[in-house]
Amino acid sequence: MDHPQVAVSVSPRPRVPASSSFFITTAIDYTNAAPHIGHAYEKVLADGIARYQRLRGRDVFFLTGVDQHGQKVQQSAEKLGVPPQEFVDEITEKFRALWAKLGVEYDGWAATTDAAHKACVQTLLQRLHDEGQLYKARQAGYYSVRQEQFLTEKERGPDGEFGAEWGEVVLIEEENYYFKLAEHKRWLLDLLDSRPGLVTPGFRLAELRNAVEKVTGDLCISRPKARLTWGIELPFDPDYVTYVWFDALVNYISFAPGFDPNSKIQSPEFHAWWPALHVIGKDIMVPAHGVYWPIMLKAIGFADADIPTLLVHGWWNIAGSKMSKSLGNVVDPDALADKYGAETVRYYLMADIATGKDADFSEERLIQRYNVDLANSIGNLLNRTLNMAWKYRDGRLAKSAGKGLQDRADSVVQSYAAVMDDGSINAGLEQACRLANEANQYVEQAKPWALAKSGETAALDGALYHLAESLRIIAILLSPVMPKAARGIWEQLGVAGEFRFEDTAWGGLKDGHPLGKPFPLFPRIEAPANP
Ligand code: ME8
Ligand code: MG
Repeated sequence: MDHPQVAVSVSPRPRVPASSSFFITTAIDYTNAAPHIGHAYEKVLADGIARYQRLRGRDVFFLTGVDQHGQKVQQSAEKLGVPPQEFVDEITEKFRALWAKLGVEYDGWAATTDAAHKACVQTLLQRLHDEGQLYKARQAGYYSVRQEQFLTEKERGPDGEFGAEWGEVVLIEEENYYFKLAEHKRWLLDLLDSRPGLVTPGFRLAELRNAVEKVTGDLCISRPKARLTWGIELPFDPDYVTYVWFDALVNYISFAPGFDPNSKIQSPEFHAWWPALHVIGKDIMVPAHGVYWPIMLKAIGFADADIPTLLVHGWWNIAGSKMSKSLGNVVDPDALADKYGAETVRYYLMADIATGKDADFSEERLIQRYNVDLANSIGNLLNRTLNMAWKYRDGRLAKSAGKGLQDRADSVVQSYAAVMDDGSINAGLEQACRLANEANQYVEQAKPWALAKSGETAALDGALYHLAESLRIIAILLSPVMPKAARGIWEQLGVAGEFRFEDTAWGGLKDGHPLGKPFPLFPRIEAPANP
């Protein structure tokens, strides 16, 4: 049973009613290399969820950005012989250009070399230091150069060695600053027990809980400048910079509207948006987003109700293996969008992976999904509906009271909302396709051409109305993923205006509605012949 929470007055100021607002973030991408298909997937997923929430009438703030500090960047810039800022600026531009090309429309841009972000991180560090939540200690230990972290016994494999994923591991002894992580372990376990909904999909919760159970030590949050200079200087010790994860995680609040790092109490403006939904990949749930981040927020003064939720997505692989520069199998989303169109890439990335699970990327699959779902199903439905309406009824609809596809559409819309609320965009798209498939079957059964021939005008009008109305609804369902194609469907149907979820209610097209002219929206992609 849920224990009713005593209303502890953490924030004495009244909170702005936040029921209609929605704050969504993505991971901020490392700027040590150009964007790949995994980055594109995550941003399109968050953009799709943001658009869906707007469709539902919510006020959405969508924050994304770039993680520009750290050892990898310093090393890559050194190799090229350019200043690190110049190096990250150039790669940051590639990310921004890609999001523009893919129609990823964000409201806030988090770049960690931004002066305001740096000041925010420093203010928070100073406050934690003053409050005794940081301490300095000398430690000797194994350090992974690649992962930029100290390793503990639990990182050793069954053979007693540190695995290849850690790269070069060196023994170092140095003084650093530590954040008191371990003392909040019990609190976090209790929070996970009382709010299992903090993590979606639910199957990730056990993994997270296990990781929290294993927390033994505190978190090293500094790096000596002798080793790393490309970071945010500690405000209380100029010989150190901030550990990149401590810096990067803070982006979610430093770029949130209305956040004040000087205070334990946040303004109504901040609370209008917060807590966020963080969309992240499975590799960064443990320990960063699932362990460090909630404990950091707790230490900063956040109430339990203000600990954000995580939507943890899976990975795109190539033929079952990880994408990697060394294997030379990194997929460039920019080139893919040039080749197939941005919305086709968006559709494929949303349709061919289940949120939370992994999938294999393949261009053949992209072509197949496009041809089957878009060209053959939705595109064909649109084309034949308009062609018949023009051929037999001069492009005018007559409203019919008959049942036809109405029940199917109502059931699809209901299922769509349920899965989209959970971030399962793939399942939402399946619903849109289901309605298109059923409408195509309906064409075969109703045979409008036969009705036209035999002069059964009322039945003919009924069939055409049900087909057009289904297409009007399909466009709304498709709009979070393919806003331009959805607009194209509406244009052909002669419908204008904003996409709104409430307009999925049956019967939107008026009696006598004039349809637009048909044009091919999803021309088939011919698969390239084998070389
Ligand atoms: O982790 N498939 O940055 P990043 C799907 N800067 N998603 C993938 C993926 C793949 N093949 N490869 C990476 C970082 N991702 C940190 C985040 S947040 C405060 C700091 C996802 O560029 C990955 O899971 O390595 C992560 O969510 C995002 O891309 C950025 O990865
Ligand atoms: Mg990574």
